Amino acid sequence: MDSQVCVITVWYLLYIAYSNAIKTKVFIDTDNVIQTIPDRFLSVTIDTAQIQANWATLNFSSPKIQRLARGLAPCYLRVGGSSADFLQFNPGVQRDKNIQRSEEEYLKFSPYAKRNIQYEDKLTDAFEIQKLKNFTMSGKQWDELNHFVEMVGWDLIFDLNGLLRQNGLWLPDNAKLLMDYTTQKGYKIAGWELGNEPDVWRGFGYKINGSQHAADYRLLHRLLDNYPQWRNSIVIGPSVTMMTNLYTYMYLKDFLDAGGPDIVSHPTFHHYYGHGPDMTVAKFMDPKLLDSLKHQIKLVQGLAPYPLYGKVWLGETSSAWGGGAAGLSDRYVAGFMWLDKLGISASLGIEAVIRQDFYGNSYGLIDPTTLDPNPDLWSSFLFKILVGESVLNVTMDDQSGYVRMYAHCTNTLRTDYKRGSITLYGMNLMTEPTTVVFPQFQPDVKLYLYMLEPVGKDGLKSQTVALNGKTLKVNPDLTMSQVTDIPEIVNGTFTFPQQSFGFIVISDANVAACKNKV
Ligand SMILES: *[C@@H]1O[C@H](CO)[C@@H](O)[C@H](O)[C@H]1NC(C)=O
Ligand SMILES: *[C@@H]1O[C@H](CO)[C@@H](O)[C@H](O)[C@H]1NC(C)=O
Ligand SMILES: *[C@@H]1O[C@H](CO)[C@@H](O)[C@H](O)[C@H]1NC(C)=O
Ligand SMILES: *[C@@H]1O[C@H](CO)[C@@H](O)[C@H](O)[C@H]1NC(C)=O
Repeated sequence: MDSQVCVITVWYLLYIAYSNAIKTKVFIDTDNVIQTIPDRFLSVTIDTAQIQANWATLNFSSPKIQRLARGLAPCYLRVGGSSADFLQFNPGVQRDKNIQRSEEEYLKFSPYAKRNIQYEDKLTDAFEIQKLKNFTMSGKQWDELNHFVEMVGWDLIFDLNGLLRQNGLWLPDNAKLLMDYTTQKGYKIAGWELGNEPDVWRGFGYKINGSQHAADYRLLHRLLDNYPQWRNSIVIGPSVTMMTNLYTYMYLKDFLDAGGPDIVSHPTFHHYYGHGPDMTVAKFMDPKLLDSLKHQIKLVQGLAPYPLYGKVWLGETSSAWGGGAAGLSDRYVAGFMWLDKLGISASLGIEAVIRQDFYGNSYGLIDPTTLDPNPDLWSSFLFKILVGESVLNVTMDDQSGYVRMYAHCTNTLRTDYKRGSITLYGMNLMTEPTTVVFPQFQPDVKLYLYMLEPVGKDGLKSQTVALNGKTLKVNPDLTMSQVTDIPEIVNGTFTFPQQSFGFIVISDANVAACKNKV
């Protein structure tokens, strides 16, 4: 090739690259607040299976754990799951001596052995659930849980055993024992739940329909009426599995119709995008799969319209059921599903998104071995700090769903941003970067960027995440990377890197709707 042709070719390629550079126009409706979320919107679970495992790898006294937990406050801690329907409270009981002795023997062999002790995990597959066995929660375990929750500023919602039954109805004796003990100790319990995923109880050999379960909830209310501190407490349920199943939808309808609006203060359902072993990187980033949540939320809200019923909660939710997707649910790639779930839920008026789980299995916010934050914990911290209560409507010229953005008023209580600021969060799922522009604002309006990208050769499967290029970590002296210290400031537009997510604050947005709200 002679040099002239070469130069022309280079110019031609540059021209193509320039003219094809992808641009995303984002428009925010600043005239209306479309939804309001409470400060406990982003909340977490600990699976009841962890009580059975005597908390497994978690040490409630660890300053690191306490620090990480405090970072999520205020939030609800929902302790529930399949094992909840196998738990009985016994204040006097010691842990089974034989089990404890065997564990101690086992642990002598390896410092990391603790997490390998095989306990039953939360599983929604009927085949697997049949393996669950009755077990006892001791007064000591209940004390440990309540002390921790109080220390870190969380609010406990406890899932009671719904399979303690007699003559077709729930048997409240054991719940009463727990409530009496709790009252005597003075523990504050924010809310109650009765059973877990009752629509799949048939997997345990119980056939209890929605109207029968609504009657169980009436008994729970009758019990709570005996305790002045809980007469108006939160009651969530019926914690059914997903709306992908007609049986589950009909079960929920039966429950809500029979229960009426008063039976639960917040109707709940559970949501996962798929079964752990079936998940892939591509699925975590599939706009259609991400969008499928909208449909499920709308189905449930259709059955429980607000304000006739309380606002719907995602009572237990994560990327994949069956413990999560190994090597994916605890990696950078999980952030697409997590941030998108928060965005869709907030925009559609879901009042709480309770993340399965704080720790345990692959979907934990912290790694069960190192007890260090997984990428989703860092995004959760950013969400708690930057994202305010008032949700704004975002529209984009590109309807493909590969660039996804959500907007709220900025949380001015936890940042120094001025009132009237807005926070956007979202993702670019494309394999190429895109230039994001906001035509409604001044062309040089300052954008404060908090862009999260994976660190190292594992790419999307990295367990380490960087904020604006700086790796986020908890240091040995337990100081943590300050997630809001270091925004990158650009004028007017920013380049959203391919396959990444982040937060953007527009401090000079001067949005009237955000002036007297957060
Ligand atoms: C739990 O953490 C505390 C505080 O760091 C420590 O003193 C204690 O030894 C730990 N317990 C276990 C079982 O590791
Ligand atoms: C639910 O079960 C009860 C008791 O078996 C029965 O009387 C009732 O008709 C059932 N309701 C529905 C909607 O199937
Ligand atoms: C958000 O904007 C879109 C597009 O303009 C519109 O169709 C939708 O109804 C709006 N949503 C709300 C809740 O206002
Ligand atoms: C943004 O604009 C300011 C002046 O308002 C300028 O000082 C700064 O260098 C600009 N930043 C970038 C990244 O262009």
